[in-house]
Amino acid sequence: MKKRIGIVTGGGDCPGLNAVIRAVAKAAAQREWECVGILGGYEGLLEPTHSLPLDYHALSGLLTRGGTILGTANRGKFASKTGHGDSRQLPTELCEGVQAGMERLGISALVSIGGDGSLTIAQQMHEFGIPVVGVPKTIDNDLEGTLFTFGFDSAVACATDALDRLHTTAESHNRVMVLEVMGRYAGWIALFAGIAGGADVILLPEIPFTYDSICAKIREREDRGKHFTIIVVAEGAREKDGGFVTSGGQEANREARLGGIAAVVASQVEKRTGKETRACVLGHLQRGGSPTPFDRALCSSFGAHAVELVAEGKFGRMVGWLGTQISDVNISEAVGRLKTVPPDGSLPSTARALGISLGD
Ligand code: F6P
Repeated sequence: MKKRIGIVTGGGDCPGLNAVIRAVAKAAAQREWECVGILGGYEGLLEPTHSLPLDYHALSGLLTRGGTILGTANRGKFASKTGHGDSRQLPTELCEGVQAGMERLGISALVSIGGDGSLTIAQQMHEFGIPVVGVPKTIDNDLEGTLFTFGFDSAVACATDALDRLHTTAESHNRVMVLEVMGRYAGWIALFAGIAGGADVILLPEIPFTYDSICAKIREREDRGKHFTIIVVAEGAREKDGGFVTSGGQEANREARLGGIAAVVASQVEKRTGKETRACVLGHLQRGGSPTPFDRALCSSFGAHAVELVAEGKFGRMVGWLGTQISDVNISEAVGRLKTVPPDGSLPSTARALGISLGD
C-alpha cells in the first residue's frame, strides 16, 4: 500500500501555510507517496473526520496563496495555550481519537504545521506514540529551534510598507505617528520592521520603556529641525513597572489578547510634548496575503525537509533553519519557552548605533 501523509495546520494563520502544504505534497509525490490535508486543525481527525486529498492538481497556485486551504483553529478541543507561556495536557481520549482518525484515513505519519501551541500538541501526540513531525509557523518568530519561522518575513514586509506610508503623512503634518504591530510577547516584528522602516523609536516587550525617554527623542528631533517622529510599538510592549495592554475580555483557558498600546502611547506622548500624535494598529493585515519570496523559499525548504524526516522515521522532530542550513531539532526543544529578542543582541545594538531610541 502507498504511504500516506496527513498534513494539519493549527493556530493562527500566516502567509506561507499553503506554500508548506504544497512543498510537503510535492516532495511526497516524488517518492510516490500520497498526501491528505486535515480540515479545521486536529479536530478534522476526530470522528467524523474531515479531509481533502492533496493530489497533483490540488496544488496549483498554492505557492503564492495566503491563508490555509485546510482551515485552522487556535481555540477548541486542541487549544493548548492557557496564558503567558502556560499550556495544558491533552486528555488521552483526544490522542486516541487522532490515532483512530489516522487509521481510518490510512495515514501513517502527520506533518503538523504550527506555532508554539500546535507544536506543543504535536509533542504530546509524539509522546503518546503518534508519528508526527513539525514545521515552525508564526509571524511572531518566537519559536526556539529555528532562526526564522515562516510568515515572519511577510509580516515584517507588511509592517515596513506601513511605516513607509506613515512617514510621508507624518512629515506632511508634522505629527508623531505610532504604529502598533503584532508579535505577542516578542518584539521581533517591531525590531526588524522598525529598523527597515527607519523608525525613530522602537518599543519592545523585552525592553520596558519610559515616556521621558520617548519624549526626549521627539524633542531631540525637533531641535534638529525634524518636526515628525515615527514610533513602532510591539503589542506586548509595556511601560517600566506597567502591565500589558489587552483588548477585549480575557476568555477562560486562552492567551490574553494583546492590543491597544499604540493608543495609550499616542495619548501620553501628545499630552507630554504638545505634538499632534496619531495611533495606527496594523493588526491582521500582517497575517494576510501572499508570502514574500523569502518565505516562499523557506516554506519550500521546510516542507521538503519534513518529508525527509518522515522518510527517515525521525518523528518528534521539528524542521528549522539553524546556522546556515535547514535542519531539525526535537520538538520538545522548540516549544514551551519563547524565543524573545535579547536586549543586548546585535539588532538592538544596531538600532542604538543608528540613534534609534528603544525607549529605555
Ligand atoms: O501569534 C500570532 C498572532 O498574530 C499574534 O501576533 C497576535 O497577538 C495573535 O496571534 C492574535 O490572535 P487572534 O487572531 O486570535 O486575535
